[in-house]
Amino acid sequence: MPEWIKVAENMPVKEASIRKVKAGGHNICLVYVEEKFYAVSSKCPHAGGELAGGWCKDGNLICPIHRYQYSLETGRGAAGQGDYIDTFPVEVREDGVFVQVKKKWRLF
Ligand code: FES
Repeated sequence: MPEWIKVAENMPVKEASIRKVKAGGHNICLVYVEEKFYAVSSKCPHAGGELAGGWCKDGNLICPIHRYQYSLETGRGAAGQGDYIDTFPVEVREDGVFVQVKKKWRLF
């Protein structure tokens, strides 16, 4: 069952930012760029790079390790990469920034 989890306070953001947050057992990259929030998985599918250490360009998140690119809107890798990252819905509410995730099950 998907649920909305608060990952940040809702306060005025002046600059683009990328930070790693946790929500429902997922490691998520919370990106604020061009006055909009995006939430995507923080692990690069190429070789496990930390996408929160990357940067944004033309609507893509760039991995700092080998510079693979992923669309912030769709998660799709650039042409020729043949991969993708998960994207998560984001809502900015009065009481915070929320990301919708499916909780991961824990095994004993
Ligand atoms: S680990 Fe991200 S591009 Fe290689």
